[in-house]
Amino acid sequence: MTSFGESHGKIVGVTVDGCPAGLALTEEDVQAEVDHRIPHDAKITSGRVEKDKVTIQSGVFNGFTTGAPITMTVENRDVDSSDYEDMKDLPRPGHADYTARVKFGGFNDYRGGGRFSGRITVALIMASAIAKRLLNQFGVDVFAYTKAIGNVKLDKSLDYEFVRSRRYKTSVRCPDEKCAEAMEEAIVKARKEGDSLGGIVEIIGANVPAGVGDPLFDALDSDIAKALFSIPAVKGVEFGAGFKSATLKGSENNDGFQITGKMVGTLTNNHGGVLGGISSGSPIVVRIAVKPTPSIAKEQQTVALTTMENATLRVVGRHDPCVVPKAVPAAEAAVAITLADHMIRAGFIPRVLKAQEQ
Ligand SMILES: Cc1cc2nc3c(=O)[nH]c(=O)nc-3n(C[C@H](O)[C@H](O)[C@H](O)COP(=O)(O)O)c2cc1C
Repeated sequence: MTSFGESHGKIVGVTVDGCPAGLALTEEDVQAEVDHRIPHDAKITSGRVEKDKVTIQSGVFNGFTTGAPITMTVENRDVDSSDYEDMKDLPRPGHADYTARVKFGGFNDYRGGGRFSGRITVALIMASAIAKRLLNQFGVDVFAYTKAIGNVKLDKSLDYEFVRSRRYKTSVRCPDEKCAEAMEEAIVKARKEGDSLGGIVEIIGANVPAGVGDPLFDALDSDIAKALFSIPAVKGVEFGAGFKSATLKGSENNDGFQITGKMVGTLTNNHGGVLGGISSGSPIVVRIAVKPTPSIAKEQQTVALTTMENATLRVVGRHDPCVVPKAVPAAEAAVAITLADHMIRAGFIPRVLKAQEQ
């Protein structure tokens, strides 16, 4: 996929290449995914409200993908760039303003964070509508949820069906209502203090067949991590027991094999569904660490780039006090796209779908 557009430009869009021909796809299918992006709860989100009406521009004919590149777009409508004029000389700590200015010599569109804005995840989410429909036809499901916000953690293991059906029912995208309330309170409190919070999102790839992925550089876990790190504010990725596995003994960390029916399975899932870069048949379980939103109202130290003097900055304008709820559908999207790509490459998904598979 190629994503394009900026936060305050005309459109944000995506071109997906390599999608098999013969997949039933409508704008409504894509719209349904995009509608999950923004929680409708003004207490915990930025004041910017984009209605995001999806248009499929190419690659779909008579309701089916043609095998040609598929381009999809949404328009930016609720744009207010006024706050960014004062800030263009004062890079926001924790944001990409400084590194973008160094790399692009000041030519980059800094309004609303430009290409570095969380808004760009709408491209990923549009692309994932295709990936999810493909995966669903082959029995694979991808879903994510908020596991922690700041110090509020959901520490119990959850039934996958519960997560799948409940994840978008709360504004923080945590399927457990009680925990979701505590998370929401934590966000509201941080916002009142002029601050922000981060958190953890867990993503599950269910029913992924064994044998998807390649060793070394095209490893399934490498590619999933790469896609997840392409979501702004993601600062850590772990599979299965992840960083905790460094403290376990081999006897504790190894997942014993067992036969269930005629299939090989594992007794536990510390490996997170990937061994040697190849799926094992156990669920893919990945977690991402999402940092607190950089743009905060508290005073912070920065520099004035034209005069090269130290300065201070309080970020004004419309910002998410916590990006974790919006990162949930983006994380689902990153994993779904990577799995679909690998399943096509490995021949699990054919290049042309048969009519009876619809
Ligand atoms: C969905 C989403 C929404 C975001 N909203 C904001 C925001 O309102 N304000 C902000 O400063 N950063 C926001 N971010 C985070 C920045 O885009 C990100 O921290 C910045 O581009 C620097 O990239 P890095 O954190 O990956 O290094 C958001 C991120 C995502 C994924």
